[in-house]
Amino acid sequence: MPEVTLEEHLHEVKDHEAAKLISEIARMSVDIRMEFPQRMAAKKGEENKYGEMAEELDVWTNNFYCEEFKKSGLVRAVYSEELKTPVRFSEDAPFVVTIDPLDGSSNIRSNNPIGAIIGIYRKEIPTTGRSLVASLYKQYGPMTTLVYTAGKGVHEFVKFRKGKMRYCLVEENIRVPEPGKVYGMGGSPLKWIPKFREFVKYMEEEKKMKLRYCGTFVGDFNQVLHYGGMFAYPALIDKPEGKLRLFYEGIPMANIIEKAGGLSSNGKISLLDIECEDPDARTPLYVGSKELILELVERLRR
Ligand code: AHG
Ligand code: MN
Ligand code: MN
Repeated sequence: MPEVTLEEHLHEVKDHEAAKLISEIARMSVDIRMEFPQRMAAKKGEENKYGEMAEELDVWTNNFYCEEFKKSGLVRAVYSEELKTPVRFSEDAPFVVTIDPLDGSSNIRSNNPIGAIIGIYRKEIPTTGRSLVASLYKQYGPMTTLVYTAGKGVHEFVKFRKGKMRYCLVEENIRVPEPGKVYGMGGSPLKWIPKFREFVKYMEEEKKMKLRYCGTFVGDFNQVLHYGGMFAYPALIDKPEGKLRLFYEGIPMANIIEKAGGLSSNGKISLLDIECEDPDARTPLYVGSKELILELVERLRR
């Protein structure tokens, strides 16, 4: 297969400023990944706005992204899972970004896959996911991969260590397989809403699907994007809004799964159609193969 670099592939993106920002974000991962070993067992940082103990690496990566976004001159505001209020730079920069700078931080110590999730908007937040210009995620696994959509197809790249190629195309116009093979769920099964627990049984016993769960949304999502099926962090009995963050995690990933022919839902509607004034809101999250998500939404509705 001819080696296509991310830079070459981004020439197809009509919005040249967005293409430049995606390339900048890809470049940042070189320095980010190099930080991991020395912060693997780092002491916990302070509590974040969700009352979760932020890892030192959450704080470091957040600060690194903010500094690099400021230098790029392309970003006027950063909304981050790790910031109590958005940080703002020059008003005439074209983009507002949402970031989960380090997704799966409970997996740092155990050296499981971790990632980053980024949404890129021209419009101000809060808005709906339909106004996304582009969204992407990076997975720091055995390899560093980057998956993006700028509205036309979903494309995956792997970080090459040698030569000028920073990222090389692995697959373009990815389509979520139908029917899907794998399923994974976050949270404690004892707290899942009963209708969801029944659906899990259905996937196991009737659909004969395989359980694949790594505890990092990016990793669990990536498996569903490639093998089809479903990842869910469902509504919980004691927490109907679930755990995952609508703007920092749900919307950017819903954009990717839907541009790849899959579906997202909060149990009722696509995450991209949720009108929400609170940038820090949580949402129940179901993403995956179209038919399976439609079946789930139908069962949750009964
Ligand atoms: P983050 O590290 O950005 O807070 O994200 C962690 C999230 C997500 O990656 C994963 O799906 C979920 O937390 C797992 O939560 P549980 O440990 O409650 O299952
Ligand atoms: Mn996360
Ligand atoms: Mn995070």
